[in-house]
Amino acid sequence: MRIDVVTIFGEYLQPLSLSLIGKAQAQGLLEVRVRDLREHTRDRHRTVDDTPYGGGAGLLMKPEPWGEALDAVLADPPAALTADAAERGPVLLVPSPVGEVFSQRLAVELAAEPWLVFACGRYEGIDARVVEHYRTRIRVREVSLGDYVLNGGEVAVLAITEAVARLLPGVVGNAASLTEESHAAEHDGLLEHPAYTKPASWRGLEVPAVLSSGHHGAVERWRRDEALRRTARRRPDLLARLDPSRCDAADLAVLAAEGWVPAAGGFRPAAAAVAD
Ligand code: ADE
Repeated sequence: MRIDVVTIFGEYLQPLSLSLIGKAQAQGLLEVRVRDLREHTRDRHRTVDDTPYGGGAGLLMKPEPWGEALDAVLADPPAALTADAAERGPVLLVPSPVGEVFSQRLAVELAAEPWLVFACGRYEGIDARVVEHYRTRIRVREVSLGDYVLNGGEVAVLAITEAVARLLPGVVGNAASLTEESHAAEHDGLLEHPAYTKPASWRGLEVPAVLSSGHHGAVERWRRDEALRRTARRRPDLLARLDPSRCDAADLAVLAAEGWVPAAGGFRPAAAAVAD
């Protein structure tokens, strides 16, 4: 996979050369190219921002440097693209608090792409015509890390790149660990169960006995129960999207004890079922 990142703060992306993602780059599984937006300015001050039409606080990024920078990226595709992939072009990802919220599902989708391009906004964002224009040429996704505001897109690029790159074949040593973790589709999108390692007793806290029982079925049941309970208590929004047809009688009993009953397409609080 190739990832191009256009930014005015290239140094921000240096952590991508560390750890598993750095190793993936060294092994040729991933190539990250960081490009400086200011290379595409034409004035002495290398200006990338200006005041917003209609007034208001803060500065916006001007469209012209973005147009030139992104055209230059598009004119330099990875060598190994299939004809079809070359025709489709990259997915342009624009980190922004007004984007769709990034998720494991989107990470899986993006991991299947050969080429991603990130446009990192700073200040109050990028002139809206940049996204409007590139939507007519390539696939564009505005993506938010969550309901809070960052100073720019670079931290989002770090998070999204790590979530995507660890799904590429060969990046994470033990592929099974990818399907067992929180938010994995194979795990029904539930939060992962609590996990323990040695020692068996620590500061008066014991590892649940079932985990040392050697009874694989009982361990799996305990983990599933804990995943369901945790999700019900911490992320009820995820339970609302849990497919009841993926739940057995034991699952339903755990969820009922937490106050959740099956409904069309997900679960809902038992109280709401009575009220209807
Ligand atoms: N840029 C500023 N805030 C952001 C957010 N929440 N997610 C992604 N990019 C951003």
